[in-house]
Amino acid sequence: MNAKTIIPNGFSIRRIQLSDFEDVKIVLAGLTAVGPITLSTYENILNYWDSLKLMTIPGEYVYNTYVVIDKNTNSVAAIGTIFVEQKIIHDGGLVGHIEDIAVNSDYRGQKLGKLIIDYLSEQGEKLGCYKVILDCDVKNVGFYEKCNYNQAGIEMQTRFN
Ligand code: ACO
Repeated sequence: MNAKTIIPNGFSIRRIQLSDFEDVKIVLAGLTAVGPITLSTYENILNYWDSLKLMTIPGEYVYNTYVVIDKNTNSVAAIGTIFVEQKIIHDGGLVGHIEDIAVNSDYRGQKLGKLIIDYLSEQGEKLGCYKVILDCDVKNVGFYEKCNYNQAGIEMQTRFN
């Protein structure tokens, strides 16, 4: 893995919090339809995420959603999640799943997408994952290759809605 991720001047990274609600809806709308989520539901989700801890490292979370903050505006410029799966195989190994990556359209092309992927990957390694995986559209393959991810396997799905 690379050296510690360098956070560019003017930005910071932290765990998602309640006050990010409006910004998070805007940023994630650049990924998919967010739907009419209420503040109360959002709060319940954050509380649920905070309640789930890894079996392997005391105090560490299963759900790790981070936001990149523009320190000038105190707004969310990018978001991403690494969910840590506890397996039985691989001697009770952990797999990190990167999900729901989005950079606010005003901030694209400034390496913040790569920043959040580097940071999440680093968290996955720190938490003991033996690998980190993700699914993406064909149009984003080049982006993930720039982030040191390689194509492996084919995504399959069955949808219910
Ligand atoms: N295809 C090929 N290369 C790309 C692409 C792409 N779609 N997007 C960026 N790159 C390249 C850049 O040119 C740059 O290359 P360089 O280092 O040679 O200059 C490198 O990848 C890093 O680019 P960033 O500036 O970090 O990319 P950005 O901050 O614009 O974020 C992202 C990219 C996250 C795909 C952004 O465009 C976005 O939010 N898109 C909409 C939501 C989305 O599709 N999210 C990914 C869903 S997949 C998932 O969640 C697991």
